[in-house]
Amino acid sequence: MDTSNKLCFSSIIGLLGLLLLYSVPNLQAQENPEKILSTTVEAEIDVSETGSKIDTLLYGHFIENLSNWFEGGLWAEMLGDRKFFYPVNNKEKLDPPNSRDWILGQWRPYGPESAVIMDSDKSYVGEHSPRVNVLHNARRGIQQSGLPLESGKQYEGRVILAATTSVADTPGPSVQVSLVWGEGSNERQSLTIDTLSSDYEKYHFSISSGANTKNGRIEITGTGTGSFLVGAVSLMPANNIKGFRPDLLELLREMNVTMLRWGGNFSAGYEWRDGIGDRDKRPPKYDYAWDAVEQNDMGTFEFLALNRLIGSEPNIGVNAGFGDAYSAGQWVEYVNGSKDTPMGKLRARHGHPKPFDVTWWGIGNEMYGEWQLGHMSLEHYTIKHNMLAKRMRAADSDIILVASGASPYEMSMTSRHWTPPLPAELPFQFGTPQDWSGGLLENSAPYFDYLAEHFYPEPEQIFDVEKQGLVEVNDPLVDRNRRGANRVQTTVEAWEIYNQRFPWLRSSDKKIVLDEWVSGSRGLEGALGTATVLNKIFRHTDIFKMSAYTCAPCALTYTGTESAMEGIGLVFKLYSTHFARIPIQVRGDKPQKEVRGTVGVDKPKETSGSDTYPLDVMASVSEDRKTLTITAVNPTHSEQNLDLSISGGTITGEGSHWIITGPGIEAQNQAGESLPVTLEKSGSIQSTAAISVAPISINLYKFSLE
Ligand code: AHR
Repeated sequence: MDTSNKLCFSSIIGLLGLLLLYSVPNLQAQENPEKILSTTVEAEIDVSETGSKIDTLLYGHFIENLSNWFEGGLWAEMLGDRKFFYPVNNKEKLDPPNSRDWILGQWRPYGPESAVIMDSDKSYVGEHSPRVNVLHNARRGIQQSGLPLESGKQYEGRVILAATTSVADTPGPSVQVSLVWGEGSNERQSLTIDTLSSDYEKYHFSISSGANTKNGRIEITGTGTGSFLVGAVSLMPANNIKGFRPDLLELLREMNVTMLRWGGNFSAGYEWRDGIGDRDKRPPKYDYAWDAVEQNDMGTFEFLALNRLIGSEPNIGVNAGFGDAYSAGQWVEYVNGSKDTPMGKLRARHGHPKPFDVTWWGIGNEMYGEWQLGHMSLEHYTIKHNMLAKRMRAADSDIILVASGASPYEMSMTSRHWTPPLPAELPFQFGTPQDWSGGLLENSAPYFDYLAEHFYPEPEQIFDVEKQGLVEVNDPLVDRNRRGANRVQTTVEAWEIYNQRFPWLRSSDKKIVLDEWVSGSRGLEGALGTATVLNKIFRHTDIFKMSAYTCAPCALTYTGTESAMEGIGLVFKLYSTHFARIPIQVRGDKPQKEVRGTVGVDKPKETSGSDTYPLDVMASVSEDRKTLTITAVNPTHSEQNLDLSISGGTITGEGSHWIITGPGIEAQNQAGESLPVTLEKSGSIQSTAAISVAPISINLYKFSLE
C-alpha cells in the first residue's frame, strides 16, 4: 500500500476523531475531585446470607520469563548475557534486538576489540564463546559494567574457562577476574587463575565490594601467551536463596501468594528441555514472543523451588503454540513421573528422584490471539488442545488441566491486536468462531477441568462502537475504578450464557480461572482498582476457582538493591491476611453508576459492585462464624460515611481497622525513593454507624461476632 495515502487516511480519521471528541462533551468528562461529594452510604449485611467459601487460590499470581520479572528481578543473577548469546564487541545495537537490554549489562571487550573473537568450534554453550588472544603484559579480555554493588557485601561467582593450547603458548594465559567499584587502583578485588586446562573448567569465587556504587564492573582479563575461552560467567549476591533474591522472596511471602502460574506469551515458544539440568549448560535462546534473549536459568527446577520458598502452589503452562503434544506429555512426566519413567529418570539424574507432583497444568496461553506464536483457528485449536490433554493425562492422570479460553467479550477487547479486517463487526457474538470459550466447551470439555479467562482493562479508554475501536476518555476516578470489576462481571455474564447453552455445565465441577488480570493502573489508583476487583471476584465464588494477578513481581517495586511493596501488593497482603473466607451478601440502596463503554466489549449488561455507590463494600465471615470482616473501597476524593447494619449475628466490642491510602491518587511506591502508599492499622471502630471512610482509601474492618 502507498504509505503516503495511508498516512493521509489516518490523519483524516484522527482529525475526525478529535473533532468528535471536542464536539461531544459526553466523551470528554474532566476529572473533578468535587464531583462525588460526601454522602452517607447504608450497607446491610446479613451474616446468614453466605456464599461458597473463598478458595485461597483466588490469591494467586501470574509470572513468566518477561521484562525484569525474573531476570534482574526475582532471580539474583547480576550479569547480562552470561552465556554469550551476543558476540562481544563495541557495537551499540544488538542484533537481533533484546527487549530486556535495559535490565542487565552487556559484555564489552577490554582492550582491543580485535583481541576478542567469537569461537563457534569450541563453544561451551549456545552458538559461540568468546576467545581472547592475550599478548604478554597487555591486559586483554571482556568486561561488563553497570553492576549495583554494596559496600562489604559478599558476592559469589563462577567462571568457566579453557585455554587453547599450542607449544608456542607455554606457559599459557594467566586470567584475572576482578570486581571493580571505582577507578582507583585499589578500588577492586581480583583473583588470578594461572593454570588453565584445555578443557573447560568451572572456577568458583567469592568476592566483595569496597563501596556502594550503581556502576560496578566485572573484568575477565588475561596476560601471557596464547588465548583463553570464556564459556559462561555468573555473579550473584552470596545471600541468594537457591538463586533468588531473599528480600523479594520475603515480600512475596508477606503477600501470601497462594498459587504461582508460570505461562504467558513466552510459553508458546518455550522449549522446556532448554530449562533443565546444569544451568551453565542450558543454551541462551531467542524468545520470539517478546523479542528477548532468554538465558534459560529460570527453568523447571527453579520455578518449583520458588514455589517451595514462598509457599505457593505451582501451576505450569505448557506450550500449545509452537509446541506439541508429545513434548507436553514429556514435561508432565519429567515433573511428576516416577523415577522409573524415561523422563523421571532424567529428573533424578538432575538431582530430584522424587516426583514433584505438580497438580495444576495449563494448556496454552491466549491461543485465540493473533499475536500468539503458533496461533491457529478455533477449529484446529480444539483438536490440538485435546491431543495435548490426552498426552499429559497419560503421563499423570491426577493432574488438573486448564484450557485457554476467551469469551466474545475478551475476544472483542483484544481484537485491536489483530490484523484488519476483522472477521465480524464488534462486539463478536457467542457461538461463532470468535467465541473461543464456547468452542472449547463444545469440543474439548472432557479434556479440561477449568477454563481460563484473562482481562486487561483500559481505565482511560472506552470502546466506541461507531468507531469500532477504543477511544481515549478522561473519566472520573470512580468510573475508571469500575472498569476492572466490570470486566469480571463480563465473565460472569458469559458464564451464564454458557450455562444456558450447555445445560450440563451447571451440574459439572467446571469453573473459571481468571489466570491473568490487572485493574489497569499502578500506584494508589491501581490498589483501589485491585481491591474493587477482588471484592467482585469474591461475590462469585461459585464461578471462580482461582485467580492470578499479572504479575507477582508487579505488585512489588525493586531496583538492583532495594525493594518494597507497591500499593497493589499491600492490597493482597491486607486481604489475604485478614479477609475472612465465607463471603456474605452486602445490600444497599445506592446502585453503582453505569460507566461508559459498549456492552459486549468493555462493559457488562449489569454494572458490577455493591449497591453502595460510590463505595464498593464486601463482607465475609470466618468459618467458625466468630469474625466478621468488611472491606470498603472509596474511589473518590471525598470522605464518605458508611452506616453498617448487621443482622444474623451480634457484634461484640470494638472493631479493628486497617487502611491503605496515600497523599494523592498518583502516589506510587518506588523502592529506594519513597513509599507514599501505606498500609496501617488505624484506630479501633467503636460503632458500626457513621464510619468515616477516608478519600482514596481501601479499608478493612474486623469485628468479633456472637
Ligand atoms: O503481560 C503479560 C502478557 O499479557 C501475557 O504474556 C499474555 O498472556 C497477556 O496478553
